[in-house]
Amino acid sequence: MESQIHITAEHDQIRRELKEIRDLPTLPAVFVRVIKALRNPNTSVKDIAAVVETDQAITMKILRLINSSFYGISRSVDSVHQAIVLLGANTLKNVVISASVFKALGGSGKDRIFNREAFWQHSIGCGMIARYLGNRTGHGREEEGFIAGIIHDIGKVVLDQYFHDKLALVAEQVKTKNISFYQAEREVIGISHAEIGAFLAETWSLPEKLVDVIAHHHHPGTPGQNGALTALVAVSDMLARRYGVGSGGDDLIPQIEAATWTQVGVNPGQIDAWDEGLKAEIEKGKELLEVLTS
Ligand SMILES: [Fe+2]
Ligand SMILES: [Fe+2]
Repeated sequence: MESQIHITAEHDQIRRELKEIRDLPTLPAVFVRVIKALRNPNTSVKDIAAVVETDQAITMKILRLINSSFYGISRSVDSVHQAIVLLGANTLKNVVISASVFKALGGSGKDRIFNREAFWQHSIGCGMIARYLGNRTGHGREEEGFIAGIIHDIGKVVLDQYFHDKLALVAEQVKTKNISFYQAEREVIGISHAEIGAFLAETWSLPEKLVDVIAHHHHPGTPGQNGALTALVAVSDMLARRYGVGSGGDDLIPQIEAATWTQVGVNPGQIDAWDEGLKAEIEKGKELLEVLTS
């Protein structure tokens, strides 16, 4: 598939290499079928549930997720059908995306350079914070913010899996120069996990707005659609770092521009008032991570 993401001439080499990777992680087949079923207005809840249930592992994950404190449903849910009725199709879609991404990329290899556990803690933390902020600001972006937060850095997994030598050089630069992971990537390989992640998301045919967020989360405010969602993820990424949730690849806390806060609809001073709520969300994220990686 031809990438829509703009990659300039000096990135051609890595782009070529990316295209040549024959065994890029794939999303489980059930993912494509569920998205297709959800698009068809004539599909009943029963039909959608039947599609989900063709994949036992995903079904188990969905039921565990639905019964975790994440959704806060007081009674126990024991069928996908019941889950869709209670949470709606849109939430189900996001649950299927997150369960599928974890099935494709999960695993907690304890590498010296790339600590996947810390990586997923950071990603889930970012998702939980985005969900909380989306909810507090009343912009209704909590579900999307959550999923976008979880997958914003997936390009790093590709780097770890296929360009490990380059990743090692990047990590070294982060340490010796005390620069951000993103900056080190640009210096060492001329391309970053943002473009690589967007390439993967496109290959997976994820919704366009998610591709956009992944591509631009380190420079929100880039003109284009989905700017508000990208801004939400950029702020949540910064907060996940400030709260020390997992690791974003370096110990620096990025500066968020005033225009980005405005796009999110939050005054930076408000964050302190939400401290307890944010911490509670981060705690819930730990349980979620356990469900998703088990
Ligand atoms: Fe990132
Ligand atoms: Fe991040």
